[in-house]
Amino acid sequence: MTFKGDYARTMRLKRRNCLTQITKLIFLLSLVALLIFLIDHISPDNGGAVEKRLRDKSMANTSIFIWEVFRGKENKSSNGQQNISTLENLKPTNTNLINLEDFNSDGLFPYLINEPDKCQKNQAAPFLVFLITTEALQVKAREAIRQTWANENVVPAVAVVRLFLLGKSKDKLGSKKQMILLEESQRHHDIIQQDFLDSYYNLTLKTMMGLHWVARYCSKASYVMKTDSDMYVSTNTLIRKLLKPELKPRKNYFTGRIIRNETPIQDKNNKAYIPKEEYSKATFPAFCSGTGYVLSGDLALKIYTVSLTMRRVHLEDVNVGLSLAKLGLKPIDPPHDLVFYHWRIDYAVCKYKHLITSHGFKPEEIIKYWRLQQNDTTKC
Ligand SMILES: *[C@@H]1O[C@H](CO)[C@@H](O)[C@H](O)[C@H]1NC(C)=O
Ligand SMILES: *[C@@H]1O[C@H](CO)[C@@H](O)[C@H](O)[C@H]1NC(C)=O
Ligand SMILES: *[C@@H]1O[C@H](CO)[C@@H](O)[C@H](O)[C@H]1NC(C)=O
Ligand SMILES: *[C@@H]1O[C@H](CO)[C@@H](O)[C@H](O)[C@H]1NC(C)=O
Ligand SMILES: *[C@@H]1O[C@H](CO)[C@@H](O)[C@H](O)[C@H]1NC(C)=O
Repeated sequence: MTFKGDYARTMRLKRRNCLTQITKLIFLLSLVALLIFLIDHISPDNGGAVEKRLRDKSMANTSIFIWEVFRGKENKSSNGQQNISTLENLKPTNTNLINLEDFNSDGLFPYLINEPDKCQKNQAAPFLVFLITTEALQVKAREAIRQTWANENVVPAVAVVRLFLLGKSKDKLGSKKQMILLEESQRHHDIIQQDFLDSYYNLTLKTMMGLHWVARYCSKASYVMKTDSDMYVSTNTLIRKLLKPELKPRKNYFTGRIIRNETPIQDKNNKAYIPKEEYSKATFPAFCSGTGYVLSGDLALKIYTVSLTMRRVHLEDVNVGLSLAKLGLKPIDPPHDLVFYHWRIDYAVCKYKHLITSHGFKPEEIIKYWRLQQNDTTKC
């Protein structure tokens, strides 16, 4: 008897369990369907549309535009395009009067990985934000950089924030790479990624993402350094000798290895080839080599917004130079004894105490030279 009763109860329980499983499954399936619907209906490149419309209108007034984007008030119509006519009715505003905290515009592409709270967590605004361009497979380079020059505790009592910038890999291994990246991001919280194809020709979009992130989530940072994952950076020298936390942070400050009177390369086989349709003038305005440049925090937003109003070029450093020129600003040379090298300098203790960047290192070399440098007490 009891046995039979038990059996019946077990079967009832089993049936009930089965029903809950089915409900769960249906719920999950509808979530997935909703996600697919959302992804399908979010337009990935509003920026392109905005930019085109602005170009068509020959971009009458940058300051008005900057003011509007600052305030996060872009009036987007249903298809995501900016309503220019409403902007034209606004009075121009001096960019110096703008309240940085109001900027809450979306990026050019949706963020797939973001760290919106990284700055607030630090309480006091960071002194320096590193924006480091990298690709999904460069895991070792990121690991080396975390341990060395972009270690967030590298300079005692100076708040440093590190972010690696990535687009999305859309090749065969794309989804696998994405999973690995997500896992890495959850461990280190130092990765941001937007939904654009990660390619050499899209480096400008990567830089734009970094500048957008600073403008939106970390606008009080004193300085920003954009650099690459094959670089050696003397963070101590950069912070102590060039930027100097004891001074009031500079405004409209941009420095690095300045490249002047560079002519656009017309040779299609060159990596830096730029077609006439993309840039037609005989020379570029002065710009800083993308291997490493430093800007004051206020410039992140200014450069970002002004570059929404221009025909962008795919060479990210040239593009930033063009934006600076449009803002009426010029890069400033660092003091002659503090050098941003955009090639590789053979390691020597004293040389490395005074340079700010050196270019072209494998991950294990970054670690090796960093250790040599930190452990060497030679007076130079
Ligand atoms: C923007 O508009 C103001 C006032 O209409 C004008 O003084 C200024 O020159 C304009 N700026 C540009 C870049 O056209
Ligand atoms: C945005 O544009 C719509 C018409 O497209 C208008 O009704 C609305 O008032 C505008 N909003 C702002 C904040 O300008
Ligand atoms: C832009 O705004 C104006 C005035 O508010 C309105 O007449 C026009 O329809 C809007 N255009 C779009 C594309 O929303
Ligand atoms: C840049 O990214 C966009 C968005 O993913 C993509 O459509 C485009 O093909 C990419 N361009 C290049 C040259 O890789
Ligand atoms: C100094 O060298 C030792 C041994 O090579 C190493 O373990 C240590 O991490 C180095 N110190 C720094 C700050 O890199």
